[in-house]
Amino acid sequence: MDTGLKGRDFLSLKDFSAEEIKFLLDLAAKLKAEHKQGVCHDILKGKTLAMIFQKASTRTRVSFEVGMFQLGGMAHFLSTQDLQIGRGEPISDTARVLSRYVDGILIRTYAQAEVEELAEYADVPVINGLTDLYHPTQALADMLTILEYKKKLSGIKLAYIGDGNNMVHSLMIGGTKLGLEVRVATPKGYEPLPEVVEMSEAFARESGGKLILGNDPEEISHGADVLYTDVWASMGQEQEAKERKKRFKGFQINKKILELADSEAIVMHCLPAHRGEEITDEVMEGPQSVVFDEAENRLHAHKAILAALL
Ligand code: CP
Ligand code: NVA
Repeated sequence: MDTGLKGRDFLSLKDFSAEEIKFLLDLAAKLKAEHKQGVCHDILKGKTLAMIFQKASTRTRVSFEVGMFQLGGMAHFLSTQDLQIGRGEPISDTARVLSRYVDGILIRTYAQAEVEELAEYADVPVINGLTDLYHPTQALADMLTILEYKKKLSGIKLAYIGDGNNMVHSLMIGGTKLGLEVRVATPKGYEPLPEVVEMSEAFARESGGKLILGNDPEEISHGADVLYTDVWASMGQEQEAKERKKRFKGFQINKKILELADSEAIVMHCLPAHRGEEITDEVMEGPQSVVFDEAENRLHAHKAILAALL
């Protein structure tokens, strides 16, 4: 498959132009439609993906594994507990060894620098399956979900309520590149990182999108087309969970917030969700919640990434 993206790494959406992201979204929609029609593909016949996980995962792991299989290839799940990385083998050595066996490497870990080091030393594409800084595969799938429900991306008002974390960083980058109005409300002291704000503002200037930052969930929810939230304490922040529960009180998608949004607004969450914290059970299970379609779209978006890069 000639995609123009062969051999590229997928470390952050910042490395992709709006046109390239749109190309991946089109490809994901096409692969999704074909999958629903029962069309089988062997685009990745004989190809393999190594998947290194240093953190837990349900969606990312299963969708990439299934996605490789559905495209005719195969995936290897590698927990860092079992790999020699866990016993101190350098990432740079691991990258060069795995490159001799496989056609792509997915990694979920803590530091973005580790993913970048892996990509520097690997001869095959490296895909970021989540770091403390970014979650680009999720944000790509989220853009697919918004496009499906809203029929467009440019001008869509996405209100993110919660922690200034990996998830919002990737939504800010992807959203502003594609011309969305990304609104973010976090508690004071939990804002997105300044460098991500700065680059997203530049992307918004280029695309005609917008970035609005604040600390008031109600203010940003008025007229929103999409309400989005994520956990208050991410993986690796377990020891802060108690303190965060206090600091994040009120940063929740609930009925009151939903009523401020557009009457056709959709509610999104990357999952796993903590009902009663960042989202109420009522809203999560309510008619405007699209969280399971969103989770499904991980599969289709990931297949597009794999087909394009590997
Ligand atoms: N949203 C997401 O990445 O889910 P997992 O942690 O289950 O992969
Ligand atoms: N921000 C969350 C996302 C999980 C998919 C975390 O990093 O744990």
